[in-house]
Amino acid sequence: MATFPWEKQLDSTVFYPAGEKQNNQVIRTYLFLRMQILDGKIVSQAVKDELKIKVAQLTAEGKRPPHLVAVLLGNNGASETYVASKIKNCEEIGFKSTLIRMSADVSEKELTEIVQQLNQDDGIDGILVQLPLPEHISEERIINLINPSKDVDGFSPYNTGKMALGMPSFIPATPYGILLMLEHYQLNTEGKKVVVIGRSNIVGRPISILLSQAPYNATVTVCHSRTQNMHEICKEADLLIAALGKPGFVTADMVKENAVVVDVGITRVADSTKKSGFAIKGDVDFESTAPKCSYITPVPGGVGLMTIAALLRNTFNAYLQNNA
Ligand code: GUN
Repeated sequence: MATFPWEKQLDSTVFYPAGEKQNNQVIRTYLFLRMQILDGKIVSQAVKDELKIKVAQLTAEGKRPPHLVAVLLGNNGASETYVASKIKNCEEIGFKSTLIRMSADVSEKELTEIVQQLNQDDGIDGILVQLPLPEHISEERIINLINPSKDVDGFSPYNTGKMALGMPSFIPATPYGILLMLEHYQLNTEGKKVVVIGRSNIVGRPISILLSQAPYNATVTVCHSRTQNMHEICKEADLLIAALGKPGFVTADMVKENAVVVDVGITRVADSTKKSGFAIKGDVDFESTAPKCSYITPVPGGVGLMTIAALLRNTFNAYLQNNA
């Protein structure tokens, strides 16, 4: 692995023309030039291209393609968008996909029966039940029901436990996507200070566990709603991962010079200038923060795209394991 950029000696004179006053404007320009985007579009496309070739090889051998089933309850706008994107990406790379839509007032018993049927169907490799579920349904019980060998979200206690023990398992798609992104840009986390804001089961907790383990070997701090001195802790981070779901929460004063910043936030914020009526905002105030960073993920176009690519990787791995 290559090194993190702060391990290299940066030439701080290169962008300053001789004799020119180094006013704030010039310094900002220089810092911005140093920053690099962690581009989810490029990295997710690379992951998908690789999978597309593998699926083509399988079908050329007369085998069936991997099959992902998504279950969507109700019509939450954000969930609709995510699931539609998952299905579209399956099609793009030659996976079979099925979307099972159910009304928001379906009973837990009915959903249970659907999941049980999917578990038993040998023609299905991956099952995902889009979260959040309506309040009258226990997410815990439903997730627990999914056969761990088809749990491509990696949310089940079985896969979570294996991941925490450092054993091979399905890793939740967003943390997996972040790891794929760091690997693509050869950002070495060994011995680095990582700060994760957020302790959700979907992102914050798993990414903090994974980065503390080999081969990532980072020193990880998890911040959450009860954390004291959040600004000071974040400012120590070589790699800052914001996964709390509060648009613009991370500001420039919370970020160390040359830090790598990964923004997991995808929140819809009302915006009358957009045709859709909303804009997608990350947890990081990109404009103020980016000039200080060595690398930063944009929103949209960063982690969100990686999440889908990672889900496809998990589905492909489930296919291989279940059809070996
Ligand atoms: N809701 C938000 N993110 C996810 C995800 O990665 N998987 C599922 N199933 N639901 C989600």
